[in-house]
Amino acid sequence: MPQIFHPSTNTISRVSIAGIIIVLGVAGAVAGGLFESTYLTGVRVPQEQPVPFSHAHHVGGLGIDCRYCHTTVETSSFAGMPPTETCMNCHKQIWSAAPMLEPVRASFRSGQPMRWNRVYDLPGFAYFDHSIHVAKGVGCVTCHGRVDEMPLLWRANTLYMQWCLGCHTDPSRFVRPREHVFELDWQPSEDQATLGRRLVQEYAIMDREHLTSCYVCHR
Ligand code: HEC
Ligand code: HEC
Ligand code: HEC
Ligand code: HEC
Ligand code: HEC
Repeated sequence: MPQIFHPSTNTISRVSIAGIIIVLGVAGAVAGGLFESTYLTGVRVPQEQPVPFSHAHHVGGLGIDCRYCHTTVETSSFAGMPPTETCMNCHKQIWSAAPMLEPVRASFRSGQPMRWNRVYDLPGFAYFDHSIHVAKGVGCVTCHGRVDEMPLLWRANTLYMQWCLGCHTDPSRFVRPREHVFELDWQPSEDQATLGRRLVQEYAIMDREHLTSCYVCHR
């Protein structure tokens, strides 16, 4: 019986199977990279706004507390956006003729609220609540980054489900004493592992089984 396949075919097929695996691997990595890339996630891409409001100036420079503008962040699911009156408390006097601030004055005259472009926006089927996170010691900076250093805001995190779950599986790695929730540059003075374990006890933070159940975020 003549040999149909030359012995070298074995090598060829082995090489080409390896080749296919490599090609698939590269394609997967490229697709994965794109999924995580700034192009799709918007992470670190400054968001244009009708007025170039700067957290770096107002928070970093002037030291205004988050709650002066985001008044409901401790009490409701929604952090709250400042009404134009809040801006005018200062800008009636400061920079009151600056062309840059004309959209703010126009909004004040007409009573039409400013329309800010969203930086963070979850799809409607995912439920989020600020007040519970503030109450249990999750700092603004953990989710939104150093806004006090951002002239225009950008997204510090993807907000993908994996990102939420990354913390919900073990919040002890991130929680801080409640009184430091609004301090963006706060650092623990002790080991985070020890502190986190203690706060999880003290604040009676729910267990992993509950915090990773689908109905917590999809209601
Ligand atoms: C003087 C008012 C003011 C203060 C103080 C302030 N903000 Fe804001 N914040 C705004 C305005 C106006 C916007 C909308 C424009 C923008 O996105 O930059 C905004 C937007 C945001 C957004 C994005 C909202 C979205 O999804 O579109 C986050 C997050 C935020 N602020 C966090 C903070 C944090 C954290 C602090 C305190 C460290 C803070 N802000 C202090 C006025 C303020
Ligand atoms: C507590 C007073 C105060 C409040 C409230 C306030 N601002 Fe300002 N804002 C200032 C001061 C002071 C400056 C000048 C900052 C500088 O030059 O360092 C300024 C500067 C600005 C500028 C010029 C660009 C920049 O950041 O330097 C814009 C735009 C602006 N504010 C928009 C707003 C808007 C919109 C709001 C309401 C969401 C607001 N401000 C609320 C005090 C305030
Ligand atoms: C655990 C993560 C997390 C923490 C901590 C957190 N935020 Fe948010 N924030 C979000 C998410 C997620 C959204 C988008 C919510 C949506 O689209 O429904 C958001 C949206 C916002 C908005 C836009 C208005 C809104 O409520 O949708 C503001 C303003 C804001 N956050 C400010 C703050 C401030 C101030 C703090 C600190 C007290 C803070 N956030 C702490 C995750 C967080
Ligand atoms: C850095 C940590 C952290 C991140 C990130 C985080 N969470 Fe949480 N989350 C917590 C903690 C801590 C609690 C409080 C649990 C408790 O009440 O004991 C909580 C509670 C919740 C609750 C209330 C649970 C209940 O049954 O009352 C919801 C809803 C929730 N998170 C949604 C989200 C969503 C959606 C995201 C992502 C967009 C997110 N969380 C990201 C730490 C985090
Ligand atoms: C801690 C909050 C949280 C929990 C727990 C959670 N999800 Fe999600 N899920 C989210 C968020 C936030 C999104 C939206 C992500 C985005 O922007 O695409 C999401 C998106 C999804 C999507 C849409 C596809 C996708 O991945 O974006 C599906 C399907 C889903 N979740 C199923 C589940 C199931 C099943 C469970 C339980 C095993 C679960 N989720 C538990 C927060 C959560």
